[in-house]
Amino acid sequence: MNATNIFGVDIGGSGIKGAPVDLERGALAEERHKVLTPHPATPEAVLDGVRQVVEHFGWSGPVGVTFPGVVVDGVTRTAANVDKSWIDRDARSLISDRLGLPVTLLNDADAAGIAEMSFGAGRGRTGTVILLTLGTGIGSAVFTDGRLLPNTELGHLELHGHDAEKHASTKAKEDEELSWHHWAHRVRKYLAHVEMLFSPELFVIGGGVSRKADKFLPLIEGIKAEVVPAELQNNAGIVGAAMAARSAASAGTARPARPA
Ligand code: BGC
Repeated sequence: MNATNIFGVDIGGSGIKGAPVDLERGALAEERHKVLTPHPATPEAVLDGVRQVVEHFGWSGPVGVTFPGVVVDGVTRTAANVDKSWIDRDARSLISDRLGLPVTLLNDADAAGIAEMSFGAGRGRTGTVILLTLGTGIGSAVFTDGRLLPNTELGHLELHGHDAEKHASTKAKEDEELSWHHWAHRVRKYLAHVEMLFSPELFVIGGGVSRKADKFLPLIEGIKAEVVPAELQNNAGIVGAAMAARSAASAGTARPARPA
């Protein structure tokens, strides 16, 4: 293991992706490997996928893993877009035992936010910065002066009587076959609502759709904060997971692997 590399895994609605991360550059050290997220995405099935991704690289060392739900002290508390049997499981221990490696587990949007604040669109930004990932769900990461307030779950704010992510995620765009224009209108309303509550200086828009930012960001008007696309795009979760694993390793809070 290169001393500056740590492995990152991103568990998403459609794929489980991972790679060793070069933490000095905030970039993947090798091309990432991806397996499809099993359906139903039960802990057992997802754990198999995570193991395949890590074994693909023959990795041994600390691993950071993202999860698309609330994670407190390694326990997965919610599961909006994965199997409900994740709720209240000690997922960090499950993953660590399966891999035989020390594991750090955190929310997927928080991981993406950590990476963007150090290496992407939030670099050097102070004040309140909010990263929103638009994908199967909507994830959020809230920072003040670079410090993360974890597990904010702003995707589940209520908007016009609906869970906001059901209305403004890219899944909603696909399921309802919305035009860019129509969908951007929904995203604008959502951003206006979040802005009313938090008055951030900057919104960073992440998720796979950030690659197509030119199709919808110019349609979003009337938001006082600056609105910019994420820069690390689909790799932000992997990079942020590895960064969190490094912090946990130096703080001594990673879940150590049990002796075989
Ligand atoms: C979950 C969040 C997650 C987001 C993006 C939401 O449904 O509640 O925890 O960050 O989806 O995956």
